[in-house]
Amino acid sequence: MKYDHTLFLADDWKDYQLLDSGEGLKFERFGSQKVVRPDPQAFWMPQQPVKSWKADAWFDAKAGDDERGQWRRLNPKAPDDWPMEWKSLKFKARRTPFRHLGVFQEHSVHWAYAMERLKAAPYPTKVLNLFGYTGLMSLACAQAGAEVVHLDASPKSNGFGKEAQQMSGLQDRKIRWIADDAMKFVARENRRGNRYDAIILDPPKFGRGTNGETWKFEEDLPALLDGIVPLLVERPLFVILTAYAVRLSHIALAQALGDRLEPFGGRIEMGEMALPEKKSGRMLPTAICARWSPD
Ligand SMILES: C[S@@+](CC[C@H](N)C(=O)[O-])C[C@H]1O[C@@H](n2cnc3c(N)ncnc32)[C@H](O)[C@@H]1O
Repeated sequence: MKYDHTLFLADDWKDYQLLDSGEGLKFERFGSQKVVRPDPQAFWMPQQPVKSWKADAWFDAKAGDDERGQWRRLNPKAPDDWPMEWKSLKFKARRTPFRHLGVFQEHSVHWAYAMERLKAAPYPTKVLNLFGYTGLMSLACAQAGAEVVHLDASPKSNGFGKEAQQMSGLQDRKIRWIADDAMKFVARENRRGNRYDAIILDPPKFGRGTNGETWKFEEDLPALLDGIVPLLVERPLFVILTAYAVRLSHIALAQALGDRLEPFGGRIEMGEMALPEKKSGRMLPTAICARWSPD
């Protein structure tokens, strides 16, 4: 397997901007709304004093857990949800109890990649998007002509995905929105003998399936990778694996994937995903990634 180091920089947004960052915080614009959230990676100095950041809402994390906490609405007119778009995909952003805003904007680098490859395929394609959350990747693949199976344990997230499918005028595209445990679903797909041209996996560090099944990244990923290989067609188009907040390097992720995809040949791009910051030239690292392709 060939391995290439790559920086995956999501610099193709009009409706999102990283305005400033530092002192463990990030100041961002999501469409019409400006928000401040904690980010332990941002331990450099902000461009402007944090107290000068004019935000519509601020996420106060619980002590010792920057995922949980609550939003402080600084602008009383700040809406609960509001429209956003990436290229021609339309969706709603919303403040969630876990500091997320309904979109992982750094994934746009993979949405564009997937669309390009699916559009270039001279035959009907089928894609499996595991841990798909609100489904922007699923919509991108459907817009590029693929039949999509979107899986996430959260029916609520799938609901937001269906809403975005309508908003994006993609209601005629074939997307199956499935709420289930990823490991269980993959085992079932193997028994059924279903095959996919491309698979995307964005597992959390820790998660729960629909019936409380626990998912622990470092423990469960090897078995999940073993399970997805037989689901690939003879000549797959791509496999994208991303990870957040895990005690692993992108090299480890890439080689775990590379081991399993060796029979298909090809190459793996591996590296960090990041967001460019306005004016400063800095970048905010977000996740690590391994991306396999046949060429
Ligand atoms: C990091 S998010 C995925 C973000 C998504 N890839 C995106 O770009 O929008 C992880 C997702 O995994 C889901 N999840 C957690 N445990 C799961 C499990 N055992 N089976 C299926 N989905 C699970 C969560 O509901 C959450 O939406």
